[in-house]
Amino acid sequence: MRNRKIYYRDPVFRPPSEAHSLLIQATEGCTYRCSFCVSNLGKTFKIRKTEDIKQDLDTAKEIYGPNVRRVFFLDGNAMVMPFDPLKEITKYAHNIFPHLERVAVYAHGKDILGKTQEQLNELSEAGLKMAYIGIETGNNDLLKKIGKRETAEDIVKAFHKCYKAGITPSGTVILGLAGKNEEKSRKHAIDTAKLINRASPTQIINEGQDVPIWYISALTLMIPRGTPLYKEKVEGEFKPMNADEILREMRIIIANITEDVNHCVFRSNHASNYLAIKGTLSKDKDKILKIIDSNLKDHRNIRPEFYRAL
Ligand SMILES: C[S@@+](CC[C@H](N)C(=O)[O-])C[C@H]1O[C@@H](n2cnc3c(N)ncnc32)[C@H](O)[C@@H]1O
Ligand code: SF4
Repeated sequence: MRNRKIYYRDPVFRPPSEAHSLLIQATEGCTYRCSFCVSNLGKTFKIRKTEDIKQDLDTAKEIYGPNVRRVFFLDGNAMVMPFDPLKEITKYAHNIFPHLERVAVYAHGKDILGKTQEQLNELSEAGLKMAYIGIETGNNDLLKKIGKRETAEDIVKAFHKCYKAGITPSGTVILGLAGKNEEKSRKHAIDTAKLINRASPTQIINEGQDVPIWYISALTLMIPRGTPLYKEKVEGEFKPMNADEILREMRIIIANITEDVNHCVFRSNHASNYLAIKGTLSKDKDKILKIIDSNLKDHRNIRPEFYRAL
């Protein structure tokens, strides 16, 4: 029994905050093909058999024991799994790991909109408590250009459905996505701030209700070989921004966050970033702006290019 292995279809990706989680391959690849992303390069999208996923959970219990606290279901958009098997594997994980605190997945906004509110409520009830949603940008032209196949409004709705279900949404935005063009970068930043303002739970909760915690992380664009964006770069159609331009873009996003946003943990600690910041929006807005300004003047804390990674 002990020589059984957990199945992984490499390479696999997980959010930084799932570094200590048990990773279980529920799907392989992704149903989308965003121009910057490597999630489906060399992989054909597949939903694994429920029995095989359960067997991997059993194997994990043999290897790590019963005290697993967090499970992350791979791959790029495991939320796209049909409701029944997703609920079944979530419940199974909680049954065999009695101390499990949460199950989490990556989710494209449309995967969340593809589930009814009742289904999301049931998934949450079963123990699926966190969804990592790629916002990338709040600018609809840019969303179209990168092949995201959703609008800013779709993403806002997906966040709101998550809060209603009791699933914590954690959104990622990509700095530098508009390329070296001041006007486009500004639009990307302002529309992204507007999306974050509208995605806030304060937009939908009733008076007197607790505001749930939610997360926004900024990543900085990396251009991996093999992606359509890499081709655009090689052909000179896409010019990447430098560290100062990226910091100025992040500054515009933060400066345009309104007081509607609260209980939102903001982080730029992903390895792709030039500057690691952590704070609570909008409470720490001024503090974050000051940190950005001082780093625009003094580059000592800026991560060197060769240390940046996905
Ligand atoms: C593996 S994806 C999964 C998210 C989910 N499938 C979605 O698109 O909503 C995780 C996130 O990593 C970020 N990411 C992926 N490729 C990136 C790149 N080349 N540069 C910077 N960030 C990237 C994007 O924010 C993306 O949404
Ligand atoms: S960003 Fe998300 S939806 Fe787009 S290809 Fe990557 S994993 Fe799939």
